[in-house]
Amino acid sequence: DGEVFKYYADGEWRSSASGKSVGIVNPTTRQTQYKVQACTQEEVNKVMEAAKVAQKAWARTPLWKRAELLHKAAAILKEHKAPIAECLVKEIAKPAKDAVTEVVRSGDLISYTAEEGVRILGEGKLLVSDSFPGNERNKYCLSSKIPLGVVLAIPPFNYPVNLAVSKIGPALIAGNALVLKPPTQGAVAALHMVHCFHLAGFPKGLISCVTGKGSEIGGDTGIAISKKAGMVPLQMELGGKDACIVLEDADLDLVAANIVKGGFSYSGQRCTAVKVVLIMESVADAVVQKVNAKLAKLKVGPPEDNSDITPVVTESSANFIEGLVMDAKEKGATFCQEYRREGNLIWPLLLDHVRPDMRIAWEEPFGPVLPVIRINSAEEGIHHCNASNFGLQGCIFTKDINKAILISDAMETGTVQINSAPARGPDHFPFQGLKDSGIGSQGITNSINMMTKVKSTVINLP
Ligand code: G3H
Repeated sequence: DGEVFKYYADGEWRSSASGKSVGIVNPTTRQTQYKVQACTQEEVNKVMEAAKVAQKAWARTPLWKRAELLHKAAAILKEHKAPIAECLVKEIAKPAKDAVTEVVRSGDLISYTAEEGVRILGEGKLLVSDSFPGNERNKYCLSSKIPLGVVLAIPPFNYPVNLAVSKIGPALIAGNALVLKPPTQGAVAALHMVHCFHLAGFPKGLISCVTGKGSEIGGDTGIAISKKAGMVPLQMELGGKDACIVLEDADLDLVAANIVKGGFSYSGQRCTAVKVVLIMESVADAVVQKVNAKLAKLKVGPPEDNSDITPVVTESSANFIEGLVMDAKEKGATFCQEYRREGNLIWPLLLDHVRPDMRIAWEEPFGPVLPVIRINSAEEGIHHCNASNFGLQGCIFTKDINKAILISDAMETGTVQINSAPARGPDHFPFQGLKDSGIGSQGITNSINMMTKVKSTVINLP
């Protein structure tokens, strides 16, 4: 009906002076579902200024009070799970059940962050000088963690709520102000989530949410941002090409279940999705067969029906995936299913006998298409994994724990899962990417620490 969702600044909902809006296209219907304000650079600057002012007072607000407000926001967010999940269904075609899970997980994440924050920020350090050569015990160093100032969070489309609160919670508990630039698809879900913080009663200007085109008020891709950022501390979660290494002694039913879950949940649009299977030749046929049987049972269709495979986020994403599939076809990959696409909806596809000269061996489809590369030794698997520019997660399937640990040590990824598919959660686990997969470590505890700096006061005795 032409309504344009307002952006959130200085504790109120506003229309942009630009008079312009950005349309959000529903991936399923491919029609404009919602519209959000196209904020101007000047409006973003104003929000930043307001955040700076609000942050000063917030940093002086007792830690327990900050935690109390976060607990309140978490509870309100959970109460609002149904309408927020509906936005996720319409904006990013997340299956209805998964959309609700994202909101509930986000509420839990905020509460856990509040609890963890009061503990880790409630502690400081005392150092004495005489441990360092040449010193007497005449200096006492007191150090504690202080906020960075204003934190800017730019979550991706695949978790517009959860990957926003994973920054908002740690930033706020640590005494920072927070400016959110949500992904265009997912912006309305994010605005609704911000509304929950508004209802919880955070001081005005402390949290704001600006919407608009990334090219005007957002940023480039992660690596480009990092080049421009200068002295600003960064935490980034970027792409991945998570490998699943399967050895001969693995539990093949477990492997097949994890390949399907890891490779195809949310249609492969997770940075932690299994993106290449590296499997020992001797067990490959059996696993491929088991995976195919499971893929045949997946429900393909609209997210409202709780389908397993739903339309991918944009037409250009679907075109990109198709490009990878066609390249593999030309170069002789075995298609375990017929390639099928309607609009943004791509049916699940396993590509067997993929070789290193195919783009899909290295590139990240971010869709329901998974390559299988057959290997003859664990070393071959490790080599393929480490030849990638990415280094997010990986997984190994074997019953030999000693071998698993050695392989894990050899894999150049931020996390290795033994006998399960890659995943970020539980949300307090450290989560980090090596190489082009990111900067810094997330997970609740690490994120709180990353959103602080150390401040020392040294008492000098005569
Ligand atoms: O897409 C990147 C997310 O951080 C992955 O999270 O493993 O919970 O799906 P997830």
